[in-house]
This record gives sequence, C-alpha cells and structure tokens, in this order.
Amino acid sequence: MTRRPLLIALAGSIAVPALTLHAQTTTDAPVRRDVPFVPTPDKVVAGMLKLANVGAKDVIYDLGSGDGRIVISAVKETGARGVGVDIDPQRISEARENAKQAGVSDRVKFIQGDLFKADIGDATVVSLYLLPDVNMKLRPKLLHDLKPGTRIVSHAFDMGDWKPKATEKVGNSTIYLWVVPEK
Ligand SMILES: C[S@@+](CC[C@H](N)C(=O)[O-])C[C@H]1O[C@@H](n2cnc3c(N)ncnc32)[C@H](O)[C@@H]1O
Repeated sequence: MTRRPLLIALAGSIAVPALTLHAQTTTDAPVRRDVPFVPTPDKVVAGMLKLANVGAKDVIYDLGSGDGRIVISAVKETGARGVGVDIDPQRISEARENAKQAGVSDRVKFIQGDLFKADIGDATVVSLYLLPDVNMKLRPKLLHDLKPGTRIVSHAFDMGDWKPKATEKVGNSTIYLWVVPEK
C-alpha cells in the first residue's frame, strides 16, 4: 500500500485555495469530498478491469468516479454496463462529456451524490480509488449491500484485515481484488 498518490493530490489541492474560495463565495455550494480527485493512470485502469475479470454481463460501479475513466473504459473494452457516482458536479459533467466522446453514453450512467448513500445493489463489480480510512468506512456497506460473488477492485488501498483474494503490481501501483462472501 502506498500513500504517495494521495500525498501528491493533497499537495495539489493545497495549491488552489483561492480558486476554491472563489467558487464558494459565488454560486457554487462547497463540495464535501472524502477524497480529492486524482485520476487512475490508463495502465492501472486496464489492470483493474483484468484483475476483476470484467466482461459483457457485468454492471460495474465506480464509487468516486472522477472523470469517468474506469467506467467508460470498462464499457468500451468489455461491453459491460457502468455506473459512476461522484459527489462533485464538475466531475460528473466531465464524465458525461467523456462518455459522449467515447460513444458509450447509452450504456453508462453518472450520478451526482455521496458514495456512502448510493444504491449499489445491482453491481457485479465495484471499483475504488479512495483512501485507507474511506475504504474501511465503506466496507460494512459493501458487505451489506452487494450480492455474494460481487468483485471489488481497489487501486492503491486495502481493506484492513479483510484479506484480498488477489493483489497485483501495475508499474508502481498495487491493485487489490476481493469477492463478497455468502451472507
Ligand atoms: C482519487 S479520485 C478517483 C477517481 C476515479 N475513480 C479514478 O480512479 O480515476 C476520488 C474521487 O472521489 C470523489 N469523492 C470524494 N468523496 C466522495 C463521496 N463522499 N461521494 C462520492 N464521491 C466522492 C472525488 O470527487 C474524486 O473524483
């Protein structure tokens, strides 16, 4: 597990307080993110989809979907359907535009909202690029809401004492796979 991508992201977010303040004092309500936006590199996206064995019958949810790249790539490369959830309206707009550019708008849905409150029961695959404590906070919901057999794939961060079924290195990144057990 490496915290380096997060540290880079946090350094980036500290660099733009003036912009954030401007947005908050004009029309936009402040967005309460649990994690900053840091995109997963394309090679790591491909590794996550492979590790989770995503195929045409899958419904993949990316919780904290950013610019939509994981869901869009899954749909484009495998024929799956996809849902992205992000709390930041700007990310949702970007993801919808990216889906349009990729020609997959009819098979993806991007929902603005809190991932902790998202309705994820029809997922067969869930992807995450969050933070260790956010993964841990999300773990009970994943175990409660997801069907047994659903695969969960995470970029960079594990789930504490829930041991992964598989881990893999892609470049400098580690990716993790779990399968939701029988209730
Ligand atoms: C590290 S980025 C990952 C983006 C994308 N999944 C990827 O791997 O390229 C985390 C994303 O989570 C979103 N996010 C943070 N807290 C959230 C929350 N409570 N509910 C939904 N999205 C959230 C952020 O806006 C950001 O886009």
